[in-house]
Amino acid sequence: MNSSNPLDILLAAGQLAPSADNCQPWLFKKDKNNIFLFHDHENTHANHIYNINHFADFVSLGTVLENIHQQAKHLGWEIKIELLKHNAGEPLAKISLEKEDSKKSLHLYEYLTKRKTNRRKFFKKPIHPELKNEAIKLAQENQVNLQWIDSAQEISKLSKLISTHDTILWEDQKLRENLVRMLRFGKKIHSDGLSLESLELGPKRHFFKPSIAIANQLPFIWKLLGIGSVLHTRNNIKHSNAIGLMTIPKKQHPHTYIQGGRALQSVWLKMSEYDISIQPLFGPIAFILNGQLEKGGLLPKHERIRKEIENYFTEKFPNLKSDAFVALFRAGYANKPTSISGRKDLEKMIKNI
Ligand SMILES: Cc1cc2nc3c(=O)[nH]c(=O)nc-3n(C[C@H](O)[C@H](O)[C@H](O)COP(=O)(O)O)c2cc1C
Repeated sequence: MNSSNPLDILLAAGQLAPSADNCQPWLFKKDKNNIFLFHDHENTHANHIYNINHFADFVSLGTVLENIHQQAKHLGWEIKIELLKHNAGEPLAKISLEKEDSKKSLHLYEYLTKRKTNRRKFFKKPIHPELKNEAIKLAQENQVNLQWIDSAQEISKLSKLISTHDTILWEDQKLRENLVRMLRFGKKIHSDGLSLESLELGPKRHFFKPSIAIANQLPFIWKLLGIGSVLHTRNNIKHSNAIGLMTIPKKQHPHTYIQGGRALQSVWLKMSEYDISIQPLFGPIAFILNGQLEKGGLLPKHERIRKEIENYFTEKFPNLKSDAFVALFRAGYANKPTSISGRKDLEKMIKNI
């Protein structure tokens, strides 16, 4: 890896992108002037109801492209990003370095390293309407529609509704197994997955590992973890100042979600500039997609919860019936996150040509 090679600098920026469960489902190839971005099928987010048709992976790939775009702009390089037709084993995007001396324009690159997921409880301080409008405009530049839900009454309703999905997270065996597989314990920074510290559970974190260790022998513990998780999530969402919802007119799959990921990341970087924290909340999106594609796969009691969430969103936001739902997140001011999420070694993410 040569740190003065333009393509290597762009790759390093891409590698800082966020991804569902920090699974980093991407791989790169490069030649003299181009980077090729691949979906890494083996390193994927849970492929059960949480990652239907790999939508969460593709949103994550979009965030990689946005990081590369921001880095190139900062250095004053002109690049062309092309989304390619998706065939198994072939790249999804081609990034070409066109000119190394165009005009420097964006300055969000600084937040490529500062942006973090923040799962803490947010302060009461409201986000200024101008900042919310700025985020809407940024999303629009990526053809994405961002709507803010910011009435206290609606957020309280949403906090109850969305948090019920945590019951499923712990009771559904496949979802639970994926969550446990992606959890990382100890103080060291892991190259992937979710560190327990990053879940911001406070003193409750001390019970977490021992509970998981014995839960297969005492299955009611999964239920208790579900109840605890619902209460924790409900409280966190209730204390958010605003919930952002992003939709996009459908394009060819997976370009819709890649484009949505670019919009999510550009807004996330911009909000980081204003010290506004963000936590994505992707469970409801998966639930709605599950209904639209009639994938099923849930126990009847879980299906009822899923349907309730789906009904709320599709009644409140009728455009969700035709457009794709690409992101949901809570936003607000908060103390800095307790821990940092690591990334895999970039050299291992580059396939040989
Ligand atoms: C597509 C996508 C979906 C995500 N879904 C969630 C989520 O539902 N809940 C959550 O707490 N974090 C979610 N995240 C945040 C990731 O877990 C986080 O980006 C990853 O662990 C890396 O950490 P970092 O963002 O601090 O760099 C999501 C991120 C992406 C890109």
